Amino acid sequence: MNSLLENIVSANLHHASHGHVATYIPQLAKVNPNQLGIYISTEEEEDFFAGDCFVPFTMQSVVKPLILLQALMDSGENAVRTLVGVEATGKPFDTFNYSDQALTGANINPMINTGAIALCTLIRGKTYQERFERLLALTRRLAEDPNIDVDESVYRSEWETGNKNRALAYLLRAYGLISDDVDDILSCYFRACSILVNCRDLAKIGHIFANHGIHPGTGEEMFPAEFARYVNATLATCGMYDGSGGFALNVGFPAKSGVGGGIMGVIPKRMGIGVFAPAIDRHGNSVAGVKALEALSRKLDLSIY
Ligand code: DON
Repeated sequence: MNSLLENIVSANLHHASHGHVATYIPQLAKVNPNQLGIYISTEEEEDFFAGDCFVPFTMQSVVKPLILLQALMDSGENAVRTLVGVEATGKPFDTFNYSDQALTGANINPMINTGAIALCTLIRGKTYQERFERLLALTRRLAEDPNIDVDESVYRSEWETGNKNRALAYLLRAYGLISDDVDDILSCYFRACSILVNCRDLAKIGHIFANHGIHPGTGEEMFPAEFARYVNATLATCGMYDGSGGFALNVGFPAKSGVGGGIMGVIPKRMGIGVFAPAIDRHGNSVAGVKALEALSRKLDLSIY
């Protein structure tokens, strides 16, 4: 299996040239685009990996399933459904293209920026720093990696340049969907996006979602199965944004991408996959990462459709 992964890495790295590292967050523009890593955590408790799989990168939108999970754990499914729902938007992750109707109902979607910003308000904690700490603790616990932390320079970079997210948060406030201080909420959201992980961490987290909340090694319930179902369903329908249909067709399992180049793959009852390749396409999805997952899915027959 390791040699299969090595072949996939060497055969797909060149696809990075069809993408670009994200430049709208200045710190991300400094990342070397020619990297590709892959890590698989399997049911047999055996792990396989190849390429740049231990290189740290910021989670960016790959943290959205964890924000959703923490909100579900802290506020329950009804509150989450009422605030952001489950429906795909078919629009880019930072879209402003909202109808009034979309901003009054449960139509925001938890996987795009507006939904994730709104969901920070459903995480428990007296301050937004405390809410973020809960999210960080959850990330460390699911990845079994106590050293996971924030890349402060990426956080500052997002804080200083994230005016579109600021505007989206004010839009939520204008429509009465959030009422807390916008800067407080955004400090939690931007910090969450700036959590540093590697492919192993994403594979481990993805594996627990794949196993419906049960730790595949110890059998411990890390979170209720119905929350895994909620998260996995949204990953399947909109985890890859307005590229989710193509991804479902060509790759075929729930997954979440981030503009840092990470992708977390969830293959129900089978495995978790972490991929990293920082050059992204116009949807914000890693180009070489998606191609590598396509090849892997064909080889291991991973499509659930
Ligand atoms: O809020 C943002 O724009 C980034 N911190 C995260 C966006 C992102 O990762 C979109 N994903 N592909």
